[in-house]
Amino acid sequence: MKKVIDEKEGRKAFPPYPLALVTIPGSPPNIITAALIHVFSFEPLQIGIGIAPTRYSYELLKVASGFVVNIPTKELLDQVIFCGTKSGRDVNKFEKTRLTDVPAQIVEAPLIDECPVNYECEITQMIETGDHHWFIGEVKVIHKDMNFSRENALCYWAGEFRLPGTLLRHR
Ligand SMILES: Cc1cc2nc3c(=O)[nH]c(=O)nc-3n(C[C@H](O)[C@H](O)[C@H](O)COP(=O)(O)O)c2cc1C
Repeated sequence: MKKVIDEKEGRKAFPPYPLALVTIPGSPPNIITAALIHVFSFEPLQIGIGIAPTRYSYELLKVASGFVVNIPTKELLDQVIFCGTKSGRDVNKFEKTRLTDVPAQIVEAPLIDECPVNYECEITQMIETGDHHWFIGEVKVIHKDMNFSRENALCYWAGEFRLPGTLLRHR
C-alpha cells in the first residue's frame, strides 16, 4: 500500500549518496563534508557539489577557481563528522583533524593525503537551485591509491552513514 507523504519523509526515502571531503583554497584551506555530490557529465568528466550559502566554504568557493573532491573511507568517519559539524570560520580543520594536506597538481586547494582518491576540479559553473547551490567542476587530475576498494567508501543520507553494500551483478 502506498501513501502520499510530505517532503521531509520523501527526502528520507532517497537511497544514500556518496560522501566526500571537499577541500577549498583559503588561508588556511578549508574542508567541508558534502553528501550532495554527483557526476554531472562523463565527457568531459564533471562533478558537482551542492553547498549551502550559509557555509564558510561557500564564501571561499565563490572566489575560488577550483576545489578537490577527496573520497574518505570508513576509517575517516570521525574526521568526516568533524568537518561536517565545525566551521572553518572558527577552526582550522586540517590542524584539528590532523589530516595531511598535500599540494595538488593544478588546483590551488590541497589534496587530503589520507583519502585514497582525489579529484582535482576546475569550476566551470554555479547553479542556484534553492537552499544549496551547485558548483560544477571539470575534473583535471585524478589521484588514486591502487589498493583502494569502493567497498570501503562512505555513503550518507538522512542521518545514516553506510558502506555501499552488496554487489548484485555487473551491468
Ligand atoms: C554527513 C554530512 C553531510 C553533509 N553534506 C553537506 C552538503 O552536501 N552540503 C552542505 O552545504 N553541507 C553539508 N553538510 C554540512 C556541512 O558540512 C557543515 O555545515 C560544515 O560545518 C560547514 O563547514 P564550513 O562552515 O567550514 O563550510 C554535511 C554535514 C554532514 C555531517
